[in-house]
Amino acid sequence: MKTFSRRNFIGNAVATGAGLAVLPRTGFAGTAETGKPYTILTGSVDSKPALLGGAKGHPESFSGWPVTDLREAKALTDVLHSGTWGRLNGKVSAGFEAEYAKMLGVKHSLAVSSGTSALYTMLGTIGIGPGDEVIIPVYTFVATYNVVVLNYALPVFVDTDPESFQIDAGKIEQAITKQTRVLMPVHIGGSPFDVDRILAIGQKHNIPVIEDACQAHLAEWKGKKVGSFGLGGAFSFQSSKNLNCAEGGAITSNDSDFIKNCYGFHNQGQGGVTTAYTPGEGTRATNLRLTEFQSALLLAQMTRLEQQARKRSENAAYLSRLFNDIPGIAPAKLYEGTTNSAYHLYMFRYDKSHFEGLSRARFIEALRAEGIPCDSGYGQMNKNAYVTALAKNRHYLKIYGEKVMKQWLERNQCPQNDLLTSEHSLWFFQTMLLGDKTDMEQIADAIRKIQKYAGELKK
Ligand SMILES: Cc1ncc(COP(=O)(O)O)c(C=O)c1O
Repeated sequence: MKTFSRRNFIGNAVATGAGLAVLPRTGFAGTAETGKPYTILTGSVDSKPALLGGAKGHPESFSGWPVTDLREAKALTDVLHSGTWGRLNGKVSAGFEAEYAKMLGVKHSLAVSSGTSALYTMLGTIGIGPGDEVIIPVYTFVATYNVVVLNYALPVFVDTDPESFQIDAGKIEQAITKQTRVLMPVHIGGSPFDVDRILAIGQKHNIPVIEDACQAHLAEWKGKKVGSFGLGGAFSFQSSKNLNCAEGGAITSNDSDFIKNCYGFHNQGQGGVTTAYTPGEGTRATNLRLTEFQSALLLAQMTRLEQQARKRSENAAYLSRLFNDIPGIAPAKLYEGTTNSAYHLYMFRYDKSHFEGLSRARFIEALRAEGIPCDSGYGQMNKNAYVTALAKNRHYLKIYGEKVMKQWLERNQCPQNDLLTSEHSLWFFQTMLLGDKTDMEQIADAIRKIQKYAGELKK
């Protein structure tokens, strides 16, 4: 049995940029920062991995998602009985926007129908179109790519920093051309990308930055929430997200003209009815409005958001501390300016040379058998058949020509991402961080057990 002093624990928590307190199993209220040494339960390491017939390392299930109670029921029935279900005549969506903007410390927030809609609305408002290029990370959900292609613009992939899993800020400038109209980095996993470096590049080249913060609710860079740095930020409220209303999204911005034009884009070029928005200046628009039901759900879910975020940060910091002692397991690095990660994903690297060559796939299998969900995460989007087929798309060939599309395929090589995603990258999910210290200890113990029996598991 090993113990870790509080001092060691704090050292790591600072290094990972996350919170310090560790909470008891029941409830989120209050902190249990007792100052006592932390005890790591290594007893189960001696038993066999579940795949080899041993007991499960994590026998109970992790937290369910979403977390709901009567707050959600009341919020929904209130809208139901009001008879005003759409935002145009209602007040609930506008109320959500005001609360969300306040929570994030931005001037404006606009509710839209999804995270994809938030990105699409911002690109449409900026006026992206055929012939334009938009810089995006290769390591992201495919929506970041799709919104560029929907505008017949060229998505230009930038390689991944394998330590952080974020877009490699050092490789952005070489991807900029005369056609580059937007930088659209992603706070992937809910951890901030290198905000200072990327904003400086945007400023130097006079190119707006749109933050894809779809996974990054309440993440912070130098004490300020992400989504407040670029021209605009996009958030997703899809079911798996840390803030959830089944499907939904929001744009955040400090630019009043920009948000007014976004409102117009998402509302058929019209101004608001019960809100103060006047018609925007755009010439293209669509309907991407959120309903009052979803906004009501968001307001109810937001009453728990900060507590849940704290809990994830505390557990993630503790897990990273435990991983310090496991060779071959390395949590994704947080950049120095990070004062909080949303930990939508707990991303980490696996090095099989410390596991007697046990493949990552077999490691995942062994961990899942322990009752611990784990995934290898995103792959090589630049090489995905769905993406490479763009080089043969009839409209793209007409707009850009065969030579440019062939060059596009060549430009999009991302060797660091290839290596990270083919061998090393792993994820845990945000709900796993809503448990308590024991859950984190069981995860670490299960990995130690797999490490100890790696030779046998390989066979
Ligand atoms: C990084 C990223 N961008 C964009 C999106 C799109 O959000 P939505 O699913 O709400 O359209 C997601 C959601 O999965 C995402 O993770």
